[in-house]
Amino acid sequence: MIYIKSDAEIDLMKKAGRLAADLLDRIEPYIKPGVTTLELNDLIHGWTLEAGGISAPLNYKGYPKSICTSVNDVVCHGIPSAKTKLKEGDIINVDVTPIVGGFHGDSSRTYPVGKISEKAQHLIKVTQECLDRGIAEVRIGARVGDIGAAIQEYAEACGFSVVRDFVGHGIGRTFHEDPQIYHYGERGRGQRLEAGMVFTIEPMINEGDWRTKTKKDGWTAVTIDGTLSAQFEHTIGIRSDGRVEILTT
Ligand code: MF3
Ligand code: CO
Ligand code: CO
Repeated sequence: MIYIKSDAEIDLMKKAGRLAADLLDRIEPYIKPGVTTLELNDLIHGWTLEAGGISAPLNYKGYPKSICTSVNDVVCHGIPSAKTKLKEGDIINVDVTPIVGGFHGDSSRTYPVGKISEKAQHLIKVTQECLDRGIAEVRIGARVGDIGAAIQEYAEACGFSVVRDFVGHGIGRTFHEDPQIYHYGERGRGQRLEAGMVFTIEPMINEGDWRTKTKKDGWTAVTIDGTLSAQFEHTIGIRSDGRVEILTT
């Protein structure tokens, strides 16, 4: 069941989206060797409350923290911890989802920690470009498969792989709703995009094998071969006039 949003609802969603972007801007200077992922969690949790928001991940299906922090081979859903201290050369994805006025805004970025290897820089750059190419496919009448194909073609041409175990999602008053947005696939296939749809695109791109496994904590997803994984995420809305808007900027 896809919940179609009015332009007024999309306007409201921009408040949550803008806060998500602010949080990701504000956390950047703290991402340095020596900081723990719990410290990043606590900063973002505090800023969210100050802004009148709520951190959606906290207690979501039993998730224990306010953000996800996914370091190196962690694909997604890394749990912030006092034991996870960032070191020079790491890459970390920070994924935030504040709720403002009842609506969710979901966004993530992958940051370098100090000086990183050239291959890590390349993976981050390609993953950002995958998100941009996915967004460029969004229009009324396009198909979910058009988004997936654009991402998959570029990632694989660059020698990387696309994670299949996690997908983008419709979003609104609930965190995850229909439609599912695959980051791989075939043009012309899948759900047709319509005015009033709001959904995330959030490609996870691996250096090696696309397969993942989940750790015993029930959340932390890692690459099966231990290679690096990067991710970027935006929440996208389609206005009644067909205009496509990135809500998380
Ligand atoms: N923000 C993630 C997403 O992009 C979901 C995190 S669910 C959590 O969909 F429970 F791990 F927080
Ligand atoms: Co999401
Ligand atoms: Co997210």
